[in-house]
Amino acid sequence: MYLRLHLLLLSGLLIAGSVRAQKNNKLSTNPALVRLIDGNLRQAVNQYKVLMSKTPAGVMPRSYTAGTDKLETSDLGWWTSGFYTGTLFYLYQYSHDTSLLREAKDRLNLLEKEQYNKGTHDLGFMMYCSYGNGLRLLGDTSYKRILLTSARSLSTRFNPVVGAIRSWDAKPWHYPVIIDNMMNLELLLWASQVSGDTSFLHIALTHANTTMRNHFRPDFSSYHVIDYDTATGAVLAKKTAQGYADSSAWARGQSWGLYGYTVLYRYTHDTKYLEQARHIAHFILTNPHLPSDKIPYWDYNAPDIPKALRDASAASVMASALIELARDVSVEEGTGYLETAQQILVNLSSNNYKAVVGSNGGFILKHSVGNIPAHTEVDVPLTYADYYFVEAMLRYKELAKEK
Ligand code: GLY
Repeated sequence: MYLRLHLLLLSGLLIAGSVRAQKNNKLSTNPALVRLIDGNLRQAVNQYKVLMSKTPAGVMPRSYTAGTDKLETSDLGWWTSGFYTGTLFYLYQYSHDTSLLREAKDRLNLLEKEQYNKGTHDLGFMMYCSYGNGLRLLGDTSYKRILLTSARSLSTRFNPVVGAIRSWDAKPWHYPVIIDNMMNLELLLWASQVSGDTSFLHIALTHANTTMRNHFRPDFSSYHVIDYDTATGAVLAKKTAQGYADSSAWARGQSWGLYGYTVLYRYTHDTKYLEQARHIAHFILTNPHLPSDKIPYWDYNAPDIPKALRDASAASVMASALIELARDVSVEEGTGYLETAQQILVNLSSNNYKAVVGSNGGFILKHSVGNIPAHTEVDVPLTYADYYFVEAMLRYKELAKEK
């Protein structure tokens, strides 16, 4: 009896597995878009050589001010410090151009000390997008060691009473956790997988579950910041920092959530994370304020829609996440996600968003929004818009190759 049940379950799993594989294979990709992407990637390689030539030693590129033709840079502790090397690795993966690889490896050395940085929740962005891609492509075991130390440093910011990793240390917040932090969990999920240390997994899952409970509204849009009481774990406030209002849906935050829960599902196969990602996708894709070209306004509730600024970074992150999510669901549902991702990729490839090689300070995309309430990085190129755009294009090519 037990054996029969076991075999039944096993065959059920196998069938489920093959159905899933079949579904994935049935997603159809567009050869014309693959050709467009190839052109984009060839241009991006040349554009990043422009960026390489402009970037001073000891810092990372961050943005560009067109009026003064000034490359804006950051120090290594800034949350975006890993995207430049990450994009170089992706472009090296595509082109095999060793000058990109050399630059990526040199810049990684600058980042190495950040593995000990316990003052930020952004170590996932900083280290996994850089060293993670380096490890994937080069298999250098010293990168693995650095990533595991980074995961340990990130874990020190977890408070079991709150059940989440602390985002910022600054006042007036008590224990702020921002939706963006979902993106830092992949470092922990990876670390748990390679080291066998389940405490990383526990922290990542607890953080994801706490976020699911408190960050989301009934329509599955998310607040930007939840402030917690460290004595009780109670929610003190639901606020925004970078969005239009506490009650609004800041566009990049929605994309971070979508991407974050899609990654959680990839590592755990727990369908509650898949459901969460599908709900977030539903909020975004049925939003009356999502423009027909699918490049979001910087906030889905910005008061001056349709004149509000667009955010190419929110679009890039969304496209990359949707290509992955499309493979996790039925063909019918996945086709809808893939069509939106395709639209985003086509529209970001237009002259409206993609810079002519040699212009835009060497960045690939124009028109992203960093932080409107703080009046910083408004309608500018940003390293993370480029990173997720290149990632999305590579993901699309990969999907097309599997046909
Ligand atoms: N993590 C900060 C941002 O998305 O702007």
